[in-house]
Amino acid sequence: MISLATPRLVLRPWTDADMETFVELCTDPEVMAFIGDGSPRTRAEAEARFARLVPSWEADGFGLLAIEEIDTGAVAGFVGLGVPDFLPEMLPSVEVGWRLLPSFWGRGLGTEAAAAMVDWAVGQPTIDEVIAIIRIENSRSHRIAAKLGMDRRRRTIIPGHRVWVDVYGVSAAQWAQHGGAELEFSTDDPRGPASGDARP
Ligand SMILES: CC(C)(COP(=O)(O)OP(=O)(O)OC[C@H]1O[C@@H](n2cnc3c(N)ncnc32)[C@H](O)[C@@H]1OP(=O)(O)O)[C@@H](O)C(=O)NCCC(=O)NCCS
Repeated sequence: MISLATPRLVLRPWTDADMETFVELCTDPEVMAFIGDGSPRTRAEAEARFARLVPSWEADGFGLLAIEEIDTGAVAGFVGLGVPDFLPEMLPSVEVGWRLLPSFWGRGLGTEAAAAMVDWAVGQPTIDEVIAIIRIENSRSHRIAAKLGMDRRRRTIIPGHRVWVDVYGVSAAQWAQHGGAELEFSTDDPRGPASGDARP
């Protein structure tokens, strides 16, 4: 797994101590309102998913990272990459996802974390493009995609849940040209030299 740093955040590997925050992220109805069918996960489902977070990095070479706020040391949520098996028409592809606890919303942290993740992703030789799959009602996430400079590629339905989503995308070439250009985006680690981007 990797670590990335932005001005206010460290995106880092999971530790056992993060499990309660991960469970909170997956079981909070407000957080989950526009994810999947819009219903929160059970604690058992969240714990089972937590156990798969590290193995997914080993299997795919990417996955989710914990978002830690530098000033407080608090875990705000996660950002990361996955394969969107739930939307077969977009396969093969790599999806970026983001999820924060509500107390961290509204300060630009979601965009800051997502920009760092996309920047890392498109630097990987095996990833030509990153997509984002966003429920049409999820205004905050549409705004993040726009701020990242992602194009809206199509509107479609998730077969398993019968919900409408917009699919956004940004290619490595697009990102190099203008991705995140409207953001005050940096992965310079305020604590010193970069904390590394070695492959797992
Ligand atoms: C989506 C999420 C990560 C956003 O985090 P955040 O740190 O608040 O995001 P940012 O502050 O970087 O950007 C949010 C943008 O949405 C805007 N926004 C906030 N509420 C909004 C609303 N009700 N309607 C439209 N835009 C809204 C903000 O003003 C901001 O845009 P701006 O920078 O132009 O002002 C967070 O709300 C979340 O975790 N939601 C639940 C999980 C989720 O839906 N994940 C995504 C699944 S695709």
